[in-house]
Amino acid sequence: MATPIQISDIAQYDGQDVTLRGWLYNRTDKGRLQFLLVRDGTGLVQCVAFKKELDAESFALAQSLTQESSVIITGSVRGDDRAPGYPGKFEVGIKKLEVIQMAGEYPIQPKDHGVEFLMDNRHLWVRSLRQWAILRIRATIINTIRNWLDDHGYLLIDTPILTPAAGENTTTLFEIDYYGEPAFLAQTGQLYNEANMASFGKVYCFGPTFRAEKSKTRRHLMEFWMVEPEMAFFNLEDLMAMEEQFISAIVQTVLQKHAMELEILERDTTRLAQITPPFPRISYDDAVERLQKLAAEIDDPERKAELAIEWGGDFGSPHETAIAEMFEKPVFVYNYPTAAKAFYMQPVEGRPDVCRSVDLLAPEGYGEITGGSERIYDADLLEERVAEIGIDPNVYRWYLDLRKFGSVPHSGFGLGVERTVAWICGLPHIRETIPYARMLNRLYP
Ligand code: 4AD
Repeated sequence: MATPIQISDIAQYDGQDVTLRGWLYNRTDKGRLQFLLVRDGTGLVQCVAFKKELDAESFALAQSLTQESSVIITGSVRGDDRAPGYPGKFEVGIKKLEVIQMAGEYPIQPKDHGVEFLMDNRHLWVRSLRQWAILRIRATIINTIRNWLDDHGYLLIDTPILTPAAGENTTTLFEIDYYGEPAFLAQTGQLYNEANMASFGKVYCFGPTFRAEKSKTRRHLMEFWMVEPEMAFFNLEDLMAMEEQFISAIVQTVLQKHAMELEILERDTTRLAQITPPFPRISYDDAVERLQKLAAEIDDPERKAELAIEWGGDFGSPHETAIAEMFEKPVFVYNYPTAAKAFYMQPVEGRPDVCRSVDLLAPEGYGEITGGSERIYDADLLEERVAEIGIDPNVYRWYLDLRKFGSVPHSGFGLGVERTVAWICGLPHIRETIPYARMLNRLYP
């Protein structure tokens, strides 16, 4: 056996004998030639079994090889510009073939399957090329999030998943029985971030969060990953300035590292390449006015109804998309109505019907990817708001303490990983952006 190598490194072995260990992705039978497309997790390469060059037993094995059988192949690497595969441009002339396990009939065939079937077979679907590309990009997005924050003075402080209090809208709580006490799966780590912020200045938490969303949409999961930075002495302007740097770095890093994966996904990257600071900023008031003007100019009654909005209403997908389409880059919408947002948001001075909140809407119809705000730092006002949540205020005692001992203006936001992956990869639905999606009708596999 020659040295086992990874397919991603194949260019370094031009003209040499190597050993590959992986799975058969596809086989094309040309009689005396068997083209085996082999993947190993790092790439995909064409291996050629030529009857003349192999012993009869190995050739027969190649001919009978089923999709997803696990194999060890030894052969010689040769350059070929037309060879299919990733990174491509090389193929392997097979000298020896070993089968570790001959796979049974594989449910996912190289043809179109319905998405529900693929979701039922997610544990196998993750092996498909598109899914491989998406999940590799997801890993880079997560890695860049961590690196950027670590490099910019933010400290990772973990926050609990089992919590006695709600951090967001109480209609989306997953309630559990915690030894006889009600508890909830964390909707956000924010409230704990605020405690940690007072100890470390700039902090972030990053983990799974849970929302019992009762609707099926392209953008909602029950379990999603969120990164939440929280910063002492940041106001809304500071927050937007930081967010646009952070998000631009994520997009540019993916473009740099994943040309191959983006090509597999057939993602047009023209718009992504333009994602650099600054991003446009508009107020909620302005956004509503723009939407109303747009709706007034439209003849199609269905579209008109979809875009209808009164001041005070929250934006649905059609609104978000329409606003985003007015700009090239992601757009910040700030100062939302206080009544439409979470309890902890700082009211605008002199105009308490709106609050110091900001959402970032991604271009190309991918919707809201971040939500954040300045936090109320006045103890009395926060206590009033906590009383309105509808959960025993006692479980917020610690949170209210934070406003009694060195309260400071501070801000933070949450970025949803899956929506960011959907946007960057150009995916119409969020379900493929997470390895195992949890949705209204799906807990399997
Ligand atoms: O706007 P949200 O609800 O903000 C918070 O949870 C704040 N506590 C964050 C903070 O200020 N620390 O959620 C933030 C982001 C959204 O913009 C979206 O990207 C994502 O989290 N998100 C979801 N992603 C997938 N499925 C869901 N059900 C989501 N709900 C929110």
